[in-house]
Amino acid sequence: MGRFELDRVLARKRDAEELDDHEIEGFVEGVVSGSITRAQAAAFLAFVFVRGMSDGETVALTRAMTHSGDLLSWPDQGGRIVDKHSTGGVGDKVSLVLAPLWAELGGRVPMISGRGLGHTGGTLDKLEAIPGFRTNLETPELRRVLAEVGCFISGQTGSLAPADRILYALRNETSTVPSIPLITASILSKKLAEGLDELVLDVKFGSGAFMGTRDAAQELADSLVRVGTGAGVRTRAVLSNMSQPLGLTVGNALEVAEAVACLQGGGPPELAQLVCSLIGDPRAPEVLASGAAWTRWCAMVRAQGGDPEASLRGSGCAVHEVRAQRNGRVTRCDAYAIGRAAFVLGAGRGKASDPVHHGVGLELGAKLGDDVTSGDLLARVHHAGRGLDEALALVHEAYAFDD
Ligand code: URA
Repeated sequence: MGRFELDRVLARKRDAEELDDHEIEGFVEGVVSGSITRAQAAAFLAFVFVRGMSDGETVALTRAMTHSGDLLSWPDQGGRIVDKHSTGGVGDKVSLVLAPLWAELGGRVPMISGRGLGHTGGTLDKLEAIPGFRTNLETPELRRVLAEVGCFISGQTGSLAPADRILYALRNETSTVPSIPLITASILSKKLAEGLDELVLDVKFGSGAFMGTRDAAQELADSLVRVGTGAGVRTRAVLSNMSQPLGLTVGNALEVAEAVACLQGGGPPELAQLVCSLIGDPRAPEVLASGAAWTRWCAMVRAQGGDPEASLRGSGCAVHEVRAQRNGRVTRCDAYAIGRAAFVLGAGRGKASDPVHHGVGLELGAKLGDDVTSGDLLARVHHAGRGLDEALALVHEAYAFDD
């Protein structure tokens, strides 16, 4: 895109005019090639933040970002290529259960996942609690595991949607992250580069979620479904509550253990229910309860170099119990505070290059609506000598009771 054309695109967006596909493609190409300066790209993002984008523009932005890097494809896999994306939360181990269960139901699940940041966990960090598990498979290996097992969960290969990496970093610097069209294009561009037939989105709301309120989550979900569908992929969304953590565990190894319990037909009902509602197949609850997906999980773990029978890494932490100091009904079990507690113990990371501790975290003894008596267990805090006092204060802050 030449200087003159770019000036025109910026001015048109500034003045709330609708850009065409060609203009948006030119902008994204220029961002990736470096012919558009950071200042120009930042101005574009600010204009979009203020003026918004039509669905047509957001579809064009999503497509251009999807095509800015490698596109994965899965020929001859003998099933629909499906995946889930979650907007992130606390104790969110859904992917670990969903991928093998959906594969058991006939889907083919090439799940490219990410790492945790701040108070939210990341699927790759959880999986790396399994000794030997590799999350850096290259494309030929991904193809082989998908063909043999029906699912994999791995990190990004090569360069998937590089435009998103550049634009997301600029959005962070320019306070333009919370824009529905920009979030929509960012999330979908990475997922659509996986070569999917169908995508389901778990859009969370509440204190531990990216979107604080149900209305904001609904707005994002609607946009993701319209734009994903507009970009040619069958797209659905489920809203889920992240005002308290999902399930009873927060922390990498602890969450893997809870996911395995669910795959074996046990675990907390709310986890099984969310997984099944995301898959949307009426057979899912029965197949999950039968434990059949656990066999597939074991096959996936082995195919990715892990030992499904081994003790999880980092287990062996010291345990400190927090007990209720009064009788009452739990009226708050705040996801953000519990997520922060896990973070200060070392389960999460502040920046991408920080290491995580796989064993630390929390097991919750009481959740919203539970009646507790003074002395009952609220949380078992697994720690490794770091952040315990702060974590305990956060656990106390997380809970509220009434009579
Ligand atoms: N997650 C993403 O991947 N992109 C956003 O813009 C926001 C959340």
